Amino acid sequence: MTEHDITITVNGEEKDLTVESRTLLVHALRDELGYTGPNVGCESSTCGACTVHLDGDAVKSCTVLAVQADGCDVTTVEGLADGPELNPVQESFQEEHGLQCGYCTPGMIMTAQQFLEENPDPSREEIREALEGNLCRCTGYQNIVNAVESAAEKMRAEGATTAAEGD
Ligand code: FES
Ligand code: FES
Repeated sequence: MTEHDITITVNGEEKDLTVESRTLLVHALRDELGYTGPNVGCESSTCGACTVHLDGDAVKSCTVLAVQADGCDVTTVEGLADGPELNPVQESFQEEHGLQCGYCTPGMIMTAQQFLEENPDPSREEIREALEGNLCRCTGYQNIVNAVESAAEKMRAEGATTAAEGD
C-alpha cells in the first residue's frame, strides 16, 4: 500500500494529509478532512452528488484521485457561505424549495454556481442542460430550475449594485 503526503487548499485553508494512491478526492474530503458537503452516491460519475470545484471547475470528486488534487484549490459547498450568510445560489434553493431529502443538493449547488458564473442570464432550457449531470430522486427538478433562475437574478442584481457602487 503506497501512501502519499499531499496538500490541498480547501475553502481557502491549506490542509496537509496522507492518502493512499487509490483514495478518491470525495473520500479524502469527507473522511480525512471532515467536509461532509460532497455526498457519495454512485461513485461512478453518474449522479453528481459529490460535485466540488477543483481549481475553479466543477468536477465530480468521485472521479478524481486525492493525489491528483495535490497543490490544488478545492471549494466545497461549505465554502460558498459567508459565515451564517448563504450565497445567492444556496439562498435560492432554500427559498424556492429546490430540495427535499437534500442528498443531491450540494452537488446541484456547486454545478449551478459555476454555470451561473459563466452564464449569468440563462434560459430555463440552458439551466436544465447545465444540470443534466446531477440527478435528483425527489424533487422532479421544477423547483431546482426555479432556484437556479432566481439565483441568476440575484447575482445579476448584486453585480449591478457592485458596479453602481464603483461609479
Ligand atoms: S458519487 Fe460522484 S457522481 Fe455520483
Ligand atoms: S432532493 Fe433528494 S435527491 Fe434531490
